[in-house]
Amino acid sequence: MGQSDERQRDLIANLDFQVEAGLDLFLDETPHDRFSETDAPEPARVALVRESAAPGRDASFRAELPQRDTAPPPPTRTFGQSAAAKPGEAAGDARARARDVGTLEELEALLAGFDGCPLKFTAKNLVFADGNPAAKLMFIGEAPGADEDRIGKPFMGRSGKLLDRMMAAIGLDRTNAYVTNIVPWRPPGNRNPTPQEVAICKPFIERQIELAAPDLIVCLGSPATQAITGTKDGILKARGRFFPYQVGSREIRALATLHPAYLLRQPLQKRLAWRDFRTLRAALDGKA
Ligand code: URA
Repeated sequence: MGQSDERQRDLIANLDFQVEAGLDLFLDETPHDRFSETDAPEPARVALVRESAAPGRDASFRAELPQRDTAPPPPTRTFGQSAAAKPGEAAGDARARARDVGTLEELEALLAGFDGCPLKFTAKNLVFADGNPAAKLMFIGEAPGADEDRIGKPFMGRSGKLLDRMMAAIGLDRTNAYVTNIVPWRPPGNRNPTPQEVAICKPFIERQIELAAPDLIVCLGSPATQAITGTKDGILKARGRFFPYQVGSREIRALATLHPAYLLRQPLQKRLAWRDFRTLRAALDGKA
């Protein structure tokens, strides 16, 4: 075997290793359905990588590549143990597990051991909540970013600082509000969570709301608003509106507003958020 063949082999083995380590998750701007990819049998995925690493080479070339000694085990389907479950099944499993916990601490521990959402495997930390779980008010954002992932708490970065300032403007801080996200793990590269990821995590945020039992929810941005209220309206239409939200036998309200990250990009829209926060203040004072 010539030197260039050996080098090609090394490069392909290295590429296989990187794909198995999940580094390809960071490459694309658009969301991918990783569930269906992990559902594919392992040898097919490896062959795909090899084919794309050496386009146009025929099967005899691939036959020369280093082969595994033994066939890899089939993807495990043990829920809570594997990210290979289909999204619908993982969401069903999440729902059953979430029903079983009776406190927020138990819910956090459950999430820490839940392997049904692929985001967990690329995130550094579980980002469960911050603030006061006994507060009447609960803010719900979309998903952690890099700062939150590093620290393990929601809204710690620039948008968190802006959220703190918006809260302070109506006399609130994190001692009188509870703060969390619809998805508790950072999506790689700060992309939006996919609908499947949101669906898997939804039973957990629903249980978190039940256990925290706030009187009022504020949904920050479109994904949180749509996931919590079920509306299909975009955020510019939904913002400023109260949606009914059922917590057990109690009906509470969820107010939609703009996400602080959007306001950082579109500072002129802060005037709309200010209106929403005045509505929020009025609601907390029993005047709206
Ligand atoms: N954006 C969110 O939606 N949540 C965070 O925790 C941080 C940024």
